[in-house]
Amino acid sequence: MKYMTRTILVAGMLVLSPLLGHAADYEHPGYEHAPDRSEGGIGKFYMGREISGVMGHQAADWLERPQRTHEEMPDEVVANMNLRPDDVVADIGAGTGYFAFRIAEQVPEGRVLATDIQPEMLAIMEERIEEEAVRNVETVLGAIDDPALPENAVDVVLMVDAYHEFSHPWEMMKGVVDSLKPGGRVILIEYRGEDPSVPIRPLHKMTEVQVVREMSVFDLHWDDTLDFLPWQHMFIFSKP
Ligand SMILES: C[S@@+](CC[C@H](N)C(=O)[O-])C[C@H]1O[C@@H](n2cnc3c(N)ncnc32)[C@H](O)[C@@H]1O
Repeated sequence: MKYMTRTILVAGMLVLSPLLGHAADYEHPGYEHAPDRSEGGIGKFYMGREISGVMGHQAADWLERPQRTHEEMPDEVVANMNLRPDDVVADIGAGTGYFAFRIAEQVPEGRVLATDIQPEMLAIMEERIEEEAVRNVETVLGAIDDPALPENAVDVVLMVDAYHEFSHPWEMMKGVVDSLKPGGRVILIEYRGEDPSVPIRPLHKMTEVQVVREMSVFDLHWDDTLDFLPWQHMFIFSKP
């Protein structure tokens, strides 16, 4: 069943792809607004999905909770990113750097651009960079509609539990695609929206169908969905 869903989605993407053209031509599907927002939502919809509110920096400790190592298996995630030592990796919505610092160890000749829109999150990462004398993590203050990354310069963009919070997902993804080198990859991790047993509020989850639908707006190839994580999908897309 899953294979069939994927086949249908890939076929849909192939039909759409000649229409997508170059970066400047990406069609904007538009946003819709509802008078009432759901709990935790912002009342703004993208391709049928209500966008979630942003997790405030006041909850930064939650990102570093000890049980997260078995709930989200960060070392296994990084291993499955298949990084090269000189890769330039952007971690968008990096929060406290839970993934960024792990990635930094795998790219000793490269660097990690750890972005966030909350300066307080950047301050947490900067403190750690200084304390541990980390050489290859750079913090970047993004905007809600701009990942603030250099064009054609990034090998891998990672977004963990962050994309569903983007209030301007189209603008953010356009910036992501523009930042990637040809062959660069987008790795997206989201709690599984199809699975009611995942104990996370609905707007903080995404289904595979929805993620693939939103990514198909851009010239990205859906390479794989890895499902080794207890609660999340790990999606891999690449720029041709
Ligand atoms: C739930 S946290 C996840 C943090 C980190 N990725 C992790 O897994 O530990 C989501 C983060 O995304 C950030 N965020 C939300 N919208 C953003 C945007 N448009 N650009 C960059 N960061 C954003 C939030 O400020 C927050 O720090």
